[in-house]
Amino acid sequence: MNRIHDPAKKSVTLIPGDGIGPEVIQATRRIVNAAGARIEWEECEAGARVFAKGLETGVAPETIDSIHRTRVALKGPLETQAGSGGKSANVTLRKMFETYGNIRPVRGMPNVPAPFGGEDVDIVVVRENIEDLYAAIEHMQTPGVAQGLKLITRKGSEKIIRLAFEFARAEGRRLVHCATKANIMKLTEGLFKRVFEDVAREYPDIEARHIIVDNCAHKLIMKPRDFDIIVTTNMNGDILSDLSSALVGGLGFAPSANIGNEVALFEAVHGTAPDIAGQDIANPTALILSAVMMLRHLGEFEPASRIENALFFTLEEGRALTRDVAGARGVGTRAFTDAVIANLGREAQSCVRREYHPIRLPPVSREPVLVKTSRRAETGVDVFIESGLETEALGKSLEWLCEGTPWRLKMISNRGTKVYPPSRALSDCVDQWRCRFVLRNGAALDDAEPAILELLRRLHGHHRWMHIEKLQEFDGVPGFTKAQGEE
Ligand code: NAI
Repeated sequence: MNRIHDPAKKSVTLIPGDGIGPEVIQATRRIVNAAGARIEWEECEAGARVFAKGLETGVAPETIDSIHRTRVALKGPLETQAGSGGKSANVTLRKMFETYGNIRPVRGMPNVPAPFGGEDVDIVVVRENIEDLYAAIEHMQTPGVAQGLKLITRKGSEKIIRLAFEFARAEGRRLVHCATKANIMKLTEGLFKRVFEDVAREYPDIEARHIIVDNCAHKLIMKPRDFDIIVTTNMNGDILSDLSSALVGGLGFAPSANIGNEVALFEAVHGTAPDIAGQDIANPTALILSAVMMLRHLGEFEPASRIENALFFTLEEGRALTRDVAGARGVGTRAFTDAVIANLGREAQSCVRREYHPIRLPPVSREPVLVKTSRRAETGVDVFIESGLETEALGKSLEWLCEGTPWRLKMISNRGTKVYPPSRALSDCVDQWRCRFVLRNGAALDDAEPAILELLRRLHGHHRWMHIEKLQEFDGVPGFTKAQGEE
């Protein structure tokens, strides 16, 4: 790209995208320019046209270069091509720039019907966007049993939780809820909760509360005004953020930011809306609000507030509403955009006034983080076995096989419930068994690997195992959970 860069302006990569993308991007670009933001756009390609050129990632190399340079992108929605082997240009961008934090503000708007929410709803969901079940580490352990690993790390949790608190400070917000299922998943969701409690101590100016995620979903409908910021793991966040956007009028009004260590991508939550593409009827509000977030990220506070006020003023007036809100009497994308531009400089009654500050992104080292412990011990091993035997027969066989070894069969569980030694549980068993072996007399070793290998050698030829997991203790704390019913 051969152009002269104006040093007073900040460069932003602009990706029009597919479907209604070019229409809402054009609307937003016009408004941002009219508001006097010091932005220089670098228009780039991603999505259907790039796939059509035969590029498998769906993102042009020039687009990647541009984002590396500008570190900020405003993007339209990108179609996931049915014929591209399920490849998504969105996923390419998210993975390439490790955008670990998804920020989804949810705010009631004037004259926008919201059966469960209302104008005074003002919530931000901060969702971890890399880890959890979405790491998609999955295996068919037997032909009938699929397993997915839920991966939660201290480093990943710390980054997203700090981001939530920093976002609260940047927007002058006072309360952060952490939504987890730590009562059931004590190690994974529990780690997220414990990190939240640790990080919260560094932000004494902000109230920190934990809430069980299902209760959070219920309360979001019953008492949405009790929430300010919600920080949560990937899957919880996926569901809670969609639920929250339904509180305030749906997809046409839901903006988002994807924050990485060095790069931030801003986009509407909605997709390419092929049913209304090219008809000048798409609502550009979600993308306009995404651009407002982007301007604040870039320190362009004044134009951000001008746009926000003009947008809210336009909605308050109610004369130029898009068709998703006003039906047949609604106006088109261009007419709505003209109305917002005409209202630049107006103050909206309904627009919350906040003192915004630049967000301080959590500092992150590129080094792999090694969490140190002073004592580590290996006390046992879980061997996952595929077997069609009856429980009793499997248990007896395993006990016989570990005779004369350092191991004792402590229990067998099936789908998380202890079934051997026999209990009164009415378990409906499948052919995947977790067989827990512990060192005899409660012993622990610094390195149990030779003994584990010996155990596996004994099992070989008798039982088919597909997975093993060491039972480790870190500083005396067991790094594994007990099965339901295990002593
Ligand atoms: P969608 O969000 O495109 O559309 C769902 C419904 O909402 C449609 O009836 C649509 O007309 C309406 N709608 C969406 N945005 C609107 C707006 N701004 N104004 C008025 N009405 C609007 O979801 P869908 O149909 O599931 O996905 C279509 C395509 O978009 C797929 O290829 C999908 O993969 C892609 N997609 C891309 C996303 C992204 O780039 N971030 C996000 C979601 C979907």
